[in-house]
Amino acid sequence: MSASFCDSLPAAFTEHPIDCALILGSGWGDALAPEAVHAVVPYDQLPGFGAASVVGHKGELILMTLAGRRVVVFSGRRHYYEGCTMEQVVYPVRLLKALGVKCLLITNAAGGINASFRAGDLMVLTDHLNFTGVNPLRGPHDATWSTRFPDMTRVYDPELSQILLDQGGETMHQGVYVFSPGPSYETPAEIRAYRTLGADAVGMSTVPEAVMAHAGGIRVAALSCITNMAAGLHVAPLVHEEVLAESESAKPRMAALLKAFVAHCP
Ligand code: HPA
Repeated sequence: MSASFCDSLPAAFTEHPIDCALILGSGWGDALAPEAVHAVVPYDQLPGFGAASVVGHKGELILMTLAGRRVVVFSGRRHYYEGCTMEQVVYPVRLLKALGVKCLLITNAAGGINASFRAGDLMVLTDHLNFTGVNPLRGPHDATWSTRFPDMTRVYDPELSQILLDQGGETMHQGVYVFSPGPSYETPAEIRAYRTLGADAVGMSTVPEAVMAHAGGIRVAALSCITNMAAGLHVAPLVHEEVLAESESAKPRMAALLKAFVAHCP
């Protein structure tokens, strides 16, 4: 498995050890200002992955130096709601494992469910709810990746999460993210139910990658940008343009926080 993954990459990826990795939603990859870019691979050149299809998700794998560290960045992601298989959704995590990556930060755009949240706030994930009924580890057991029934008591690594909390400045929340299947936004009744069940924010990504990484021994932290209040807590109908606009305004803060995370990553 690892051989075929690394075969499709420029040699730069395997020449030196990688310090950490980022899987970035919503155009945040564009906001990074790396000291150097060593290689860029469009997703459609990664066999088994496929081009990103959602507006705002560029679809490039980038090897860069950021904050003096060697970092692999997935700029844009594949989502389950696009009709991708779970294998495609978690392809980045398999590739990162093949590269020997030990620490991963995943970002997403999310709707705020906790009434104290506001658009533009950031939330560090403490845990998640998976309401899609899908699990990336379903299927024949791959004993080289994980045990058959991996523990999920602490998916989100406390030390990595603390870096985000320490470096994030004001309005950094912590909370539970619920993975909603999409692509339609949720109904107000669904949001009330999610809130009753303990969710603070809702989105359509991140959980498959986090489960896969944690099971496979990669330390993971995840960060939501609250781009809107969720259905029923939001006066107007939800539109993707609003999510994109809020993601755009969050870019400078996101870029600074991602860089600080990379700089402090163990
Ligand atoms: N729901 C689901 N996914 C999202 C939302 C939302 O309100 N906002 C951004 N991604």
